[in-house]
Amino acid sequence: MPSPILISTKIAGFGLSSCLYNASGPLCSDADELHAIGISHAGAVLSKSATLQERQGNEEPRYVDTRWGSINSMGLPNQGYEFYARFSEQAKTYDKPYFMSVSGLSHDDNLHIIKEISGFENIAGIELNLSCPNVPGKPQTGYDFEQSRRLLEMVFTEVKQPLGVKLPPYFDMPHFEMMASVLNDFPISFVTCVNSIGNGLVVDPDLESVVIKPKHGFGGIGGDFIKPTALANVRQFYTLLDKSVSIIGCGGVKTGMDAFEHILCGASAVQIGTQFMREGTGCFERVANELTDIMRSKGYPDLESFRGKLKDI
Ligand code: DHB
Repeated sequence: MPSPILISTKIAGFGLSSCLYNASGPLCSDADELHAIGISHAGAVLSKSATLQERQGNEEPRYVDTRWGSINSMGLPNQGYEFYARFSEQAKTYDKPYFMSVSGLSHDDNLHIIKEISGFENIAGIELNLSCPNVPGKPQTGYDFEQSRRLLEMVFTEVKQPLGVKLPPYFDMPHFEMMASVLNDFPISFVTCVNSIGNGLVVDPDLESVVIKPKHGFGGIGGDFIKPTALANVRQFYTLLDKSVSIIGCGGVKTGMDAFEHILCGASAVQIGTQFMREGTGCFERVANELTDIMRSKGYPDLESFRGKLKDI
């Protein structure tokens, strides 16, 4: 009998039978979509980012898949936080943790939402989104270190559940250090690296136009394009943050090898966004099988035997 290969992990004190689950964004906005993740091989269920009120989002087309990745400017279409909080009652039947993404349009909105959901015992944790690039006129909090600190000071006075943050990608070494020194001052449970690379532009050369309608075509870039940036962010925050903080990798994960690379850089779990949008919930089982095969061929029985062990040359 070959010994079993385990891809289970722990986030915010909760066990996940698979380290793979959905990124907040694609296919996690309504009850049917969340249910599909709940009954799939995903190790957890994560909601679409919730605002105080329901929102229709930006004008369509607002999501386009290209061969190398995606561009989106959805504009936070969601059903409002009360829906995602109530869904936790259904989510408890799935035998996996349910995480809620919160992306209030102001610090006060975030505080209000977090206060209101603190009584929901089936919300395993909150992924506070510091990095939505698509609401016109709203800068990404994660690129303003003082505002990030201010927001965390506010929410940690109220939050009852474990709280993590979803960060934008950083590109400069001092920025990694500045954000890490903010985060290390709070009892953060996990950090998700990274959100889309904000405000890219995809051009259709035949039509000589942009490909999405909102914001003159500018939107968040996901998929293959962003894997090296995502890995860099996972690696830097794994290195710089207190070891009590779990890193969740997100960006450019299409195959088991992509997930393996994220874990090697330090990720304890790996989210799938653009590829989940393409493939649906089947991606969680396929990528899990590919990751398991890689671990078997390398002789790794579990994630801890290689997590974070990226070597210099
Ligand atoms: C949206 C996009 C994001 O990257 C995000 O973090 C939250 C919301 C959106 O446009 O809906």
